[in-house]
Amino acid sequence: MATAKAHTNIALVKYWGKKDQDLIIPQTDSLSMTLDEFYTTTRVSFDPALTADQITVNDQPVTGDGAARITRFLDIVRQLSGRHEFAHVDSHNHVPTAAGLASSASAFAALAGAASRAAGLDLSRRDLSRLARRGSGSATRSIYGGLVEWHRGHDDASSYADPIMEKVDFGLEMLAIMVSTGRKKISSRYGMQSSVISSPYYDSWKEVVESNMATMKAAIAAHDIQAIGHTAEENALRMHALTLSADPGYTYFNSETLSAIAAVRRLREQGINCYFTMDAGPNVKVIYDRADRDRIVDGLAQTFDRDRLVVSQAGPGIEIWDENN
Ligand code: DP6
Repeated sequence: MATAKAHTNIALVKYWGKKDQDLIIPQTDSLSMTLDEFYTTTRVSFDPALTADQITVNDQPVTGDGAARITRFLDIVRQLSGRHEFAHVDSHNHVPTAAGLASSASAFAALAGAASRAAGLDLSRRDLSRLARRGSGSATRSIYGGLVEWHRGHDDASSYADPIMEKVDFGLEMLAIMVSTGRKKISSRYGMQSSVISSPYYDSWKEVVESNMATMKAAIAAHDIQAIGHTAEENALRMHALTLSADPGYTYFNSETLSAIAAVRRLREQGINCYFTMDAGPNVKVIYDRADRDRIVDGLAQTFDRDRLVVSQAGPGIEIWDENN
């Protein structure tokens, strides 16, 4: 039996499109910050008495498509380890109440860590990152703490994450504005594929990412929060332009997303450096220097309840431990 704890991550340069949908090889590199506030703990044990995988998330049994996706992932672990038993999987998502931020990144990173260890494998961080990738692309990056790069690679062996700065030793901070608790209607898996196939701007996106990766890495090396935030915001807007320009077009934004964007821009007009990013859902994350935190929280609190504003620092990489039955 083994347990793993993995934190979620938010991309500053986004992954939005696959080259290989089965192996989850992305079209582009990406770069993220692991967050300390949001994480998943997962315990796995293989059991010869089981006739199917038994899965719970937050103490609720998981069935249907959700269970099938986890079983497919466990099949990869069974294949790697040569084990054949089914497994008990118990997972807990630790997110602030009603956050709507439960993430496949922390979930599949924790599952990769716990399942591989419970199966008797002792994988390197790099191999764990490759394994987590098979569950969900963004999980690749949640193996490491701090600022992390996912090298797109060209096959299973070459597509993995590396830490850029495991301990973030400058003021970079992120605040999540919880604008909605509903489940997203269009999964990132479906949404990104539709962008690859049907957005006329997809080739331009690849060039945008190439250039944003270089700018972002230079900005991180220089501890330049303004350049990090500006680049992340530009990258997010261009990613979301791919959803609007797909056929059929769609958006993850709702009216509250637009209010949050406007609130961040208002703060900026007042001379406070802060920037926004959004993923495949309506929540908005704000990027800034922690020295400005109080002014930013006060400013955003004019539009959003304070309990919807969750401040997060850079978080740690995965932890895995063995447990006796
Ligand atoms: C917008 O990793 O959830 O958050 O690989 O299909 O499981 P799958 O997709 P997923 O997509 C994440 C998309 C994103 C950007 C990012 O995290 O880089």
